[in-house]
Amino acid sequence: MSLCPSSNLLPPMKSLFTLLTTLYSVSVVSAQNATGLAPLKFRSLPLGKIMPAGWLKDQLTVQTNGLAGHQHEFYRYVSQTNWLGGNVTYSDLQEAAPYWFNGLVPNAVLANSDALKKQTSYFLDYVLSHQGTDGWLGPEVNTTLPRILWARYPFLYGAIQMVEVDPSLTDRVVTAAYKFVKLANTMIKNKQGLDDWTNSRWHDFLIPMQWLYDNHPNGNEALLLETMNLLKAAGYPWDKIFSDQYFPKGPVDHISNPLGYGLMWHGVNVAMALKSSAAAYRVSHSQTDLDNASAAWDRLFQYHGRPSGIFAADEYLAGLDAVRGTELCLVVEAMFSGSYLYQVIGNPKYADRVERITYNALFATITGNMWSRQYLQQQNQIASKNMSPNPFPNDGAYSNVFGLDPNYPCCTVNFPQGFPKFISNAFVTTPDGASLVQVYLGPFNTNANLQNGNNVQVTVDTQYPFSDTFKTTLTASKAFTYYVRIPSWVTKGTISVNSGTTQPLSPSNGLQAVKVASGTTQIVLNLPADIKTEQRPNGSIAVQRGPLHYAFDIPRNQTILAQNAQQPLAVDLQFGATASWQYAIDPSTLRFDAGKPPATLPSPIYDSGKPTPSISVTACLISWPIAGDTFVSSPPTSPACTGSKSTIKLIPYGATKLRISEFPVFKST
Ligand SMILES: *[C@@H]1O[C@H](CO)[C@@H](O)[C@H](O)[C@H]1NC(C)=O
Ligand SMILES: *[C@@H]1O[C@H](CO)[C@@H](O)[C@H](O)[C@H]1NC(C)=O
Ligand SMILES: *[C@@H]1O[C@H](CO)[C@@H](O)[C@H](O)[C@H]1NC(C)=O
Ligand SMILES: *[C@@H]1O[C@H](CO)[C@@H](O)[C@H](O)[C@H]1NC(C)=O
Ligand SMILES: *[C@@H]1O[C@H](CO)[C@@H](O)[C@H](O)[C@H]1NC(C)=O
Ligand SMILES: *[C@@H]1O[C@H](CO)[C@@H](O)[C@H](O)[C@H]1NC(C)=O
Repeated sequence: MSLCPSSNLLPPMKSLFTLLTTLYSVSVVSAQNATGLAPLKFRSLPLGKIMPAGWLKDQLTVQTNGLAGHQHEFYRYVSQTNWLGGNVTYSDLQEAAPYWFNGLVPNAVLANSDALKKQTSYFLDYVLSHQGTDGWLGPEVNTTLPRILWARYPFLYGAIQMVEVDPSLTDRVVTAAYKFVKLANTMIKNKQGLDDWTNSRWHDFLIPMQWLYDNHPNGNEALLLETMNLLKAAGYPWDKIFSDQYFPKGPVDHISNPLGYGLMWHGVNVAMALKSSAAAYRVSHSQTDLDNASAAWDRLFQYHGRPSGIFAADEYLAGLDAVRGTELCLVVEAMFSGSYLYQVIGNPKYADRVERITYNALFATITGNMWSRQYLQQQNQIASKNMSPNPFPNDGAYSNVFGLDPNYPCCTVNFPQGFPKFISNAFVTTPDGASLVQVYLGPFNTNANLQNGNNVQVTVDTQYPFSDTFKTTLTASKAFTYYVRIPSWVTKGTISVNSGTTQPLSPSNGLQAVKVASGTTQIVLNLPADIKTEQRPNGSIAVQRGPLHYAFDIPRNQTILAQNAQQPLAVDLQFGATASWQYAIDPSTLRFDAGKPPATLPSPIYDSGKPTPSISVTACLISWPIAGDTFVSSPPTSPACTGSKSTIKLIPYGATKLRISEFPVFKST
């Protein structure tokens, strides 16, 4: 069914038939009385207008030189010789190629790689020129394979991004998309193409349809609105699933499913569905939908959140225990959902969290050279190996190995979208097009055409999140107001414009406004933060400073478990601890050390010993048992020291591949 299949261990789902019969009785808002789409709070810029600079550019080069930029050459799910030769299974065609395309389009453009752009152009052309006469899109046209609507959505996302870069593709893509929407409309009315994945991921078709509505309505408004309403009505009622009454307040392994939707607690579905109520709001115009979207976000992170910014679901929602897993696919989907939520709702909490997920959870689960990725990452991860027993009730023994496609292949083809889409959503404009807003902080070169022919170029020079300082140079043809997001964790931040006096920040709704004259303006920002500790289960704590979460980097050795026959860099790696990690820490002794940053950060930055900032803390060894032979039990509460005190160093979580990051506490004095 899917490259990340559901497990049949979950409580039984209602039969699809029952589900559809029930849902079709829900009333559907008719297109006649709809009033169009509610406006966005912020508009995205076309792909390619925001380019990574400095270390972000280097990190994208690392991604491009790794698995993301090379898998089409050898990986069977996306190698063209395989899928064009028909030597693939149903699920490969259904979702692997569209997933890959969706991520490779922005990767190719932002890395300015002609070789990768050729791949995406070839794929787009192939799919469009082989569209079924009835409108079906996909490599599987004219096969007898069953049609599942949802796997077309990543293709549509990829095609839209290509149009943003090359408007000459507009007519071809928009025409093909409308043929497909018309077919989908009929299919939904005939109850076709609606498997459980389609029913749970309806918002990911609403968003491409909203792009058509906003940019190329061409007289199809009624068709789009009707199709959006039909799709939502046929789909999972996410507002109910996320509601206080039904939302699980702990791991779901041993609780029964109260609503009967079989994939409603599936981690990737939940990450994608974070944007469901915001997508629905654009059609309904109902404030309740926005309130529901906001409450769903908070509830998920309250009961399943991790100090790395993400939440835990090792297939299904997994609660707070530090050894339970977080799937890589859900990391990149939550990032994308958060960017969309920010653009619809404008609440800075979405942007704060997306930045934390990117700078911590994303790179923690991929090796420094980005050739090997995990399926599941753990906050406390003392080994990466074939684990038997393992702490994941619904995932396999190989889930936390760093490799080509441990446990399931989906994250290999889907992870590449995460980082490029973070970059392409890093700036937005206000809806009137008059102002530019920097949403995600880091080094960028951005070029925007604002209202009234105001061309603005922005260069942000910084090593953030490995430094607190920013030098932003703006060149504008006309005066305008520039905004920059000030994260909620900043304390005593300052700003100075054109070498003027240094002023305290005065953000409103998370944004600092700066009046910019025509010509060149220079802004210097300093965004310091205090060390914060986060309470975790059983009296343990996690350490944060600014956007970065800090962890003890367990020294490790490495064994190659497997190597791809065609691509020797694609290896499966086992990591084992080579030093003690059984530490309790004294939070009163935490001290931040910014280090001496080099002029250029090391490449790759997300690996042991590479980032400069660190936090020191007084620690002592304790008795902390392992479970099985491979994973650590919950942090002991109020443990006694078994050895003398020492000072240990914590480094950014994303650079650690084995780690302790939820510590028991003790008092050193
Ligand atoms: C649109 O019509 C439907 C069905 O008659 C009704 O339930 C809904 O409240 C109407 N919505 C608006 C915004 O008028
Ligand atoms: C077809 O797939 C099988 C299984 O993955 C593989 O062994 C074989 O080499 C493939 N054949 C071609 C022509 O790609
Ligand atoms: C599918 O089959 C029909 C009927 O044989 C044919 O006209 C059409 O070109 C085929 N489409 C593709 C994409 O092969
Ligand atoms: C918000 O969610 C609640 C369920 O918690 C639901 O009753 C309500 O209808 C939702 N609001 C909208 C506009 O869908
Ligand atoms: C707290 O510790 C107990 C005993 O070790 C353990 O069973 C439980 O899972 C822990 N709770 C969490 C949320 O980690
Ligand atoms: C890794 O280190 C551990 C602990 O010293 C040792 O037991 C193990 O044999 C080592 N593995 C390799 C592959 O070196």
